[in-house]
Amino acid sequence: MVTSSPKKIAALNALIITVITIASYAILTISLHAFRIIPMLILLVIVFISSYGIITYSLEKFIYEKIKIIYKTIGSLKTHKKRELKKKAKSDDVLEIVNQVVLEWDKEKKQEIEELKRMATYRREFLGNVSHELKTPIFNIQGYVLSLLDGGIHDPDINQKFLKKAEKSVNRMIAIVEDLEEINKLESGELKIKKESFDLIELTREVIDFMEMKAEKFNSRIQVKSSFRTAKTMADKRRIRQVLINLIDNAIKYGDIERNLITISFYDFHDNYLVEVSDNGKGIPEEFLPRLFERFYRTEFSRSRDKGGSGLGLAIVKHIIEAHQQTISVRSKPGKGTTFSFTMIKT
Ligand SMILES: Nc1ncnc2c1ncn2[C@@H]1O[C@H](COP(=O)(O)OP(=O)(O)O)[C@@H](O)[C@H]1O
Ligand SMILES: [Mg+2]
Repeated sequence: MVTSSPKKIAALNALIITVITIASYAILTISLHAFRIIPMLILLVIVFISSYGIITYSLEKFIYEKIKIIYKTIGSLKTHKKRELKKKAKSDDVLEIVNQVVLEWDKEKKQEIEELKRMATYRREFLGNVSHELKTPIFNIQGYVLSLLDGGIHDPDINQKFLKKAEKSVNRMIAIVEDLEEINKLESGELKIKKESFDLIELTREVIDFMEMKAEKFNSRIQVKSSFRTAKTMADKRRIRQVLINLIDNAIKYGDIERNLITISFYDFHDNYLVEVSDNGKGIPEEFLPRLFERFYRTEFSRSRDKGGSGLGLAIVKHIIEAHQQTISVRSKPGKGTTFSFTMIKT
């Protein structure tokens, strides 16, 4: 903190010079028997003002020259700040300005360090998660290939089965890498939303057709519930398709094993549509809900790694919805089922 400014120092110095001058004047005039109060007062004012001016100017110039060196040393300060300082320095208290700028610089650097630390942790965690996700299918493939090389290739009961299992693991790896690419694009801000006008209900029906086989395999039935026939929106159709695929895929995978009923409902919600994807599966315990949209986060409960997927699906969904300035939420009742709801703009 700056306690004494150049102006205060200059005033003090000017006062000292004035007192000395006046004292000398008084001694001189008294000894000459010609003491006059008025000229003494005029002299007092002139001496004070002129010495104050000179001292302030030279002091500020001196400090400013010194401070310029500090600025050069700081070096990393943005040029506009230097200019700003110079501009202000002429009129205001130079030390206070320097103090402010240095404090600002300090704050900026601290924030940069925090951000770098956060990024380093993120990178470490991300790499750890990626290798963890890839390890399972790689080791599985290795196991099947080794068994085939060990003679299994000649056993007609085993070779087909193992090759199919290896293919499944390869597909899992492809899905992981594709999701990684997607999340990378989304998180690096590379994603460009290409908005177009389309019907949300029509797109949902297309996605349902596309997922029919998987739904059948998991004993799932998918229905659409809406009090209106069309739901026109302005959004990136390809990405919203991906949102629907990811949510329906989860509803299929984590829904009721015996008889899963997936309902996609549409509601008119002021300027938006509210789209809900619900299943009647095991549900998700409340303590897992707040972290569900984090990348690689999975509930132990769902044994989800056995069901494939990358653990990135919901993180991708959230990014896409937020890139559209819309919101997504989840509610769930263990034993009853889960509902994901997101909004879409109405046009
Ligand atoms: N409909 C659902 N019912 C129960 N759990 C779910 C549901 N959707 C998602 N989850 C849980 O959230 C986790 C994250 O989902 P997601 O990001 O799509 O990853 P993935 O599907 O690859 O496991 C899942 O692993 C699962 O534990
Ligand atoms: Mg998923």
